[in-house]
Amino acid sequence: MNTFDNGVRSTRGPVVALVPAAGRGVRLGANMPKAFVPVGGSPMVRLAVEGLLASGVVDRILVMVPAELVEGAGSVLPRSDAVRVIVGGIERTDSVRAGLVAAPDAAYFLVHDAARALTPPELIVRVAAELEAGHSAVVPAVAVADTIKSVDAAGVVTGTPDRSGLRAIQTPQGFTADVLRAAYASAGVAATDDAGLVERLGVAVRTIAGDPLAFKITTPLDLRLAEAVLAGSDLTGTVAR
Ligand code: C5P
Repeated sequence: MNTFDNGVRSTRGPVVALVPAAGRGVRLGANMPKAFVPVGGSPMVRLAVEGLLASGVVDRILVMVPAELVEGAGSVLPRSDAVRVIVGGIERTDSVRAGLVAAPDAAYFLVHDAARALTPPELIVRVAAELEAGHSAVVPAVAVADTIKSVDAAGVVTGTPDRSGLRAIQTPQGFTADVLRAAYASAGVAATDDAGLVERLGVAVRTIAGDPLAFKITTPLDLRLAEAVLAGSDLTGTVAR
């Protein structure tokens, strides 16, 4: 397909979405891996994959899940030849690395957390369009509402960065395949997002406007918010677009 915004075709090759869904979800307190916890009746990972399919800009989707769920995951995901399930890893980076290995022909990667289940397809389209426009690394960003402080091991504040220069970063994070592969080439890397690894290469990471609905479902409160959004509750001012 390789179709970008407004039907413009990607000239470089397949766009592959990597969906890390192998986390244990300890902070959510559920009795199953987080990505499989239902939101509005559908497992988060299903909603995330549906969003990627609906964007129309993704050729293939690789979903990384815990080993014991590889067999069962197919039954909760949308039926599509474009979707494949593989085994994830211990850390999120291990799960993404498994996806990189499984897609040797990719021209672009969109790495998208299963836990960002309500991400609007329109945001996915915008990330992909920036890649096609020639940017090597693209991340959605939103302003932070809280003042952020750094603290030492004892919890004593060590600094207060200027909030106007801070952003909370969401997914999907888009990369040309060669850049993301290079970022993951160094062994033993640890990072909480993929752009963090790309930054270490000295590659410029472009931010675009994120979307409040792309929030990561992490805590029981997040889950209730997601349920309320899907139920169509009046959240005016809560998830203002
Ligand atoms: O733990 P965190 O909320 O940062 O996880 C973000 C995403 O990475 C989730 O969708 C989770 O399932 C995934 N993940 C993974 N493999 C791990 C840890 C997290 O695929 N080992």
